[in-house]
Amino acid sequence: MLFSAIGVVVVAALVVAIVVLSPQGKPTAAPSPSATKSSTPTPTPTPTPTPTPTFDKTQFSIDDPNSIWVVADKLRPLNPADWEPPDLVEVPVNYVNQPFMRQVASDAVVQMFAAYTAQTGLAMASQSAYRSYGSQESVYSGWVSSLGQEAADLTSARPGYSEHQTGLSIDISADPANCSLDQCFADTDQGIWLAANAWQYGFVLRYPNGYTPITGYEFEPWHYRYVGLELAKEMHDTGVMTLEEFFGLPPAPTYAN
Ligand code: DAL
Ligand code: ZN
Repeated sequence: MLFSAIGVVVVAALVVAIVVLSPQGKPTAAPSPSATKSSTPTPTPTPTPTPTPTFDKTQFSIDDPNSIWVVADKLRPLNPADWEPPDLVEVPVNYVNQPFMRQVASDAVVQMFAAYTAQTGLAMASQSAYRSYGSQESVYSGWVSSLGQEAADLTSARPGYSEHQTGLSIDISADPANCSLDQCFADTDQGIWLAANAWQYGFVLRYPNGYTPITGYEFEPWHYRYVGLELAKEMHDTGVMTLEEFFGLPPAPTYAN
């Protein structure tokens, strides 16, 4: 309404100016350019989008092993090294090795596995979830015996450095087994679905393909880490692939000693 009224005024002003300046007419007064200018409607400014609230990266600790955001890598051992989660529960899902996780992570796994089965008619199983300092010691030394230390360090965390010790990580397999703990798991229906959907249940793929110089580990398409819905969504939406990059931490390709 306002703009059409302004438009009429502008058109009228232009007609008057043309008439006044036309050779047939008798100009009485030259139209003032400033008068013409002042009748031009001001363009409507582009509305400023409502700013997205800044994600608070300090909301939870990344140092405290109790925190769902704790970051463990080769430069960030758990502190204390033999830390044990206070609220481990048995995860009520199909499994290869009986799984325990922290309650919040267990609930999320149950929901995620159920959603996958509801959507596809297929199934997943827990391969390995919580591992104590002691069990990580056995797993790591097993890898060292079979591969040697250098290769083992790209596959398995040393005791005190594993996310599995937080009770927030799980290695997931297809059920029935197909490409378990193998990079070809990425191409299974389960691996593809997890890569696309795990964030919606609060999980991140912790060791993505091509990020070994940052995470210190080869691609593990089966290893998912619970960080909660908010952080998983933020990482998904911003396309940040690792916890190290998200929190501005140094890359951790190797141990300090
Ligand atoms: N495989 C992962 C890196 C671990 O041992 O915690
Ligand atoms: Zn794992």
